[in-house]
Amino acid sequence: MNTEITIQQASPKEWDKITWLWPLEKQAEAQIRNEKKFKQISTGERIVILAEILDKVIGVVQLELVHPNPEMADGKTTAHIDGLRVDQKYRNQGIGKRLMAEVEKIAKEKGFRKIVLGFSKGLTHEFLSKFYSEQGYHFWKEKDDNMTSIFTKDISKL
Ligand SMILES: CC(C)(COP(=O)(O)OP(=O)(O)OC[C@H]1O[C@@H](n2cnc3c(N)ncnc32)[C@H](O)[C@@H]1OP(=O)(O)O)[C@@H](O)C(=O)NCCC(=O)NCCS
Repeated sequence: MNTEITIQQASPKEWDKITWLWPLEKQAEAQIRNEKKFKQISTGERIVILAEILDKVIGVVQLELVHPNPEMADGKTTAHIDGLRVDQKYRNQGIGKRLMAEVEKIAKEKGFRKIVLGFSKGLTHEFLSKFYSEQGYHFWKEKDDNMTSIFTKDISKL
């Protein structure tokens, strides 16, 4: 059987395809959030990239082009990576890194020079610091709440 993983941009109507990537108890909340976020694909404020295997979504990453805080995304030079997630069963097979490489390529093609992303200081902080550092990101600052680390990468020279 051909089990090739495809990476492609999502359309707004595909918003409910990613719900199952969250643990059961978080799916209702994720559903509401994702429906709202996918609407921003139509307005050009967001790009969503899906990793699929046999038409089933197994990973997602989102690029926010405009953010209320222009330090995070200003629609011109800085874009914000939001919502990278790979299904538990498919982790550690390079899918997360493939999604990151694809989203950076698209951001660069659109003329963005800098990517910003944040992750919380929870249990996975050390792993995520390493994961993003390996891909050229570096620590920029802590968010005001002091619960989130902001990392950034210059993609202008990719
Ligand atoms: C972060 C995440 C997307 C990575 O996806 P993935 O497909 O497993 O990523 P990859 O397979 O491309 O790379 C994983 C890397 O982390 C390493 N790794 C995996 N689990 C690890 C762990 N517990 N501790 C340390 N390193 C670990 C792997 O060895 C691999 O590194 P390598 O390529 O040098 O071998 C995935 O873990 C995930 O969905 N986590 C939950 C959601 C999340 O935290 N998202 C980030 C929000 S900012």
